[in-house]
Formats: sequence, C-alpha cells, structure tokens
Amino acid sequence: MELFDVHLNVDDKPYDSAGLIAAIQKCDVLVPTLTDNIDKDIIAKAGTRLKLIANFGNGVDHIDVAAARARGISVTNTPDVLTEDTADMAMALMVAVPRRLLEGAAVIREGNFKGWSPTHMLGHRLYGKRLGIIGMGRIGTAVARRARGFGMAIHYHNRRRLRPELEAEVEATYWESLDQMLARMDVISIHCPHTPATFHLLSERRLKLLKSSSYLINLARGEIVDEDALIRLLQEGKLAGAGLDVFEHEPAVNSKLLDMKNVILLPHMGSATIEGRINMGERVIINVKAFCDGHAPPDRVLPLPT
Ligand code: DGY
Repeated sequence: MELFDVHLNVDDKPYDSAGLIAAIQKCDVLVPTLTDNIDKDIIAKAGTRLKLIANFGNGVDHIDVAAARARGISVTNTPDVLTEDTADMAMALMVAVPRRLLEGAAVIREGNFKGWSPTHMLGHRLYGKRLGIIGMGRIGTAVARRARGFGMAIHYHNRRRLRPELEAEVEATYWESLDQMLARMDVISIHCPHTPATFHLLSERRLKLLKSSSYLINLARGEIVDEDALIRLLQEGKLAGAGLDVFEHEPAVNSKLLDMKNVILLPHMGSATIEGRINMGERVIINVKAFCDGHAPPDRVLPLPT
C-alpha cells in the first residue's frame, strides 16, 4: 500500500466472476490467488489498463496464461519460496499415513490407551522403501533430499531427466516410463504441475498398476489423480493408503474419503507457513515493482507449448 494505489479484497473470500470482472476492468495489475479462476472469458473482459497478473502462489493452472499473453498481459508466480515447506509436508504425510499417526493420536484423545502391547498400532516402515516422485522440479527434488535422510530409495519420472550431478546427489533412478515406475514403488509422491497434459495423469489404469501395499501422497493438484478411481481402489483394498492435501473438486472433498482410516486429508496447507506467506508476498511485490519500473519481472510464466 506504500508503493501502489491498492484495492484489497479484505474479506479474504474468493471473488465470484462478477467481482473478478469488476477488479480486472479497473486495475493495471491484478494479484490473484489459486482460488481465483482467471479463465479466457474473464481475461476477455479485462480493461485496457491491465498489463500484469502477479499471482500470489506457484501453480498457475487457474490462469489462462495463453489468453493473457494474446492480450499483452504478463503473468508471474512465486516459485522457490514454497519449496521447503511443501517438501516438509510431503514427508509429514509420508510418515503419518503408513505409521498411522492420526489413528494413534485418536487412541489417546478418546481415552482408549490401555498400555503398550506388541501388536498395538502396527504400521509400515519407511526405511528401505522405494519412493517414486512424479515431477522432479524444485519441490520433487527437495522431497528427494529429505526422503534420502529417511533411508528411502529415490526413483522419479519427469519430462526431462535431471542433470547427472543432481541425480547423483539424491541417488535417484530415472524412469522414462511412468507405468513401469508405478508398478514397482512403495510410495508415490506427486509434485508435477496441473496442466492439460497431467490432468488424470494417474488415471484408473495407472492407479491399478500400483502395488496393493503402496501409498499415494498428493500435495500438487487434485486434478492430477482420478479421484473416483482412487476411492474405488482404496475401498477395495488395492492401495494401502493415501495422504491428500489437494482434491479434484476442491474445496469439495468426496465424503467417501472421510471415514477411511488409512487416508489422511489436509485442507491444501502444504505451503502454509507464516514465513512462506511473507516470502510469497515479497516475491509478488518484486514482480510488480520490476514490471511497473519497466523491467522484466523475474518470475514471468510463459504459456505451455502447444
Ligand atoms: C501454490 O502456490 O500453487 C500452492 O498450491 C499453494 O499451496
């Protein structure tokens, strides 16, 4: 507010499309979050002043970047600053689901702890297990570093193979074929962006390739997994469990997931730290300031190649 003439959405509730259109018609810079759906119809209604959409967040699947570019509107995001927090949360779910953390905590809270016994609350060991990371960008690599510390063997599928030094650092095995990797992993963790190419990347066919003893962790976007198929496989005992921070129809959560003991559900809080949010805000300001001063904003996002 010191730097610019700012109009805030003080309610902290997402605008509906009428609210978004009103905002987009009168500003030079729009700062949306992932809950604002800036599709091509909204962009078509942008005023001629609008020159920058500076997203407060990393993922830009809620913005039609190609439509923005066609109208001469730049788009930026906030990479890097969410990496470590999201990777921490991936590890938290990776430990919490197989080791039954929520179930154990509930035993205490509900007054049901009657003392230790050899078969009480048995879960599964992480050490020595194979972790398959889908999307080995910043977050995937940060997860790999942590998982090495937990004694897991790192495998990954990515559009491009990592540089040999980086692959060696995390002792990662590259799988060109996602199908082949899925069939051999104990834990799968998703860290790729949601794009038209990754929508239902984990389709029913692919989910069926997973071992029935394996776990699925998703902190990326719900749309990457066919959620109905996932639920069916969990109900049939064809997957050991899941840790989900994101949902296909977010914020709606399929009620069938709610009663599953082997599933931990979180409300899209993978990056939710005070430090991270402050860093994100600063990153937005850097982008807006650079742009308004006539420089290329550092975190410019380009449309996906067609
Ligand atoms: C993002 O910025 O895209 C994240 O999903 C927020 O947690």
